[in-house]
Amino acid sequence: QGLEIEVYKEVSSTNLVLKDYANQGVPEGRIVIAGMQTQGRGRLGRSFFSPSDSGLYMSILLRPDMAAADAVKITTAAAVSVALAVEKVSDQKPDIKWVNDIYINGRKICGILTEASFSMESGGLDYAVLGIGVNTYEPEGGFPEAIRDIAGPIFHERKSDMRNRIAAEIINNFMRLYDSFEENSFYPEYRKRLLWVGEKINVIRGSEKTPATMLGADEDCRLHVRYEDGREEYISSGEISIRKA
Ligand code: BTN
Repeated sequence: QGLEIEVYKEVSSTNLVLKDYANQGVPEGRIVIAGMQTQGRGRLGRSFFSPSDSGLYMSILLRPDMAAADAVKITTAAAVSVALAVEKVSDQKPDIKWVNDIYINGRKICGILTEASFSMESGGLDYAVLGIGVNTYEPEGGFPEAIRDIAGPIFHERKSDMRNRIAAEIINNFMRLYDSFEENSFYPEYRKRLLWVGEKINVIRGSEKTPATMLGADEDCRLHVRYEDGREEYISSGEISIRKA
């Protein structure tokens, strides 16, 4: 289908701009890219650090014919698209931390936030805004204190500005995976890059922390773990997060 890409120097949040469009009835395939965001949005109501010199901020409007429960696959397919893009434009090998954080050498290089709106009548998705923020370069003055030990850039040197290349690669990869969503075509590439499979992790549920072995993730992006008593469980994202034990 047709893609329509709008590029701005600065917006509040590319997700917010596209949510407005979605509510005005704009069709699937509108993409907003910005050089910086003044109100970058992260998961769990957090903000996303979005300075002008170093990041790529992009959102894609989707109107998928899918059940609400499958929305997690949009985010996961996006994570795969970013990983493939990074592998193409750099010599880095990103890992995906379940469910969809992208890491290089233990640093988070990309955050993804899908904001969906559900239709009361159908029980399915009305629209989904897929937002992708990539830390392409080290920001001037470094990352803020609060995320200094967590966030990292793809490139440590800036030879030429790669942000347009990366954006194009991500969009192409994602649209290809999205066109074959029913076959879960993102899944083999997802599994290959999944971090900590076979290793000891902690399953974090609120303030409760349960040690387990990570066995993998299934095609519905549920985490598969074995607890120390031998019991196995499949857990949906949203309920928990994981850390390396
Ligand atoms: C997270 O890791 O918490 C998700 C961060 C998502 C950031 C991107 S940047 C482009 C889009 N617009 C936003 O306001 N947020 C997403």
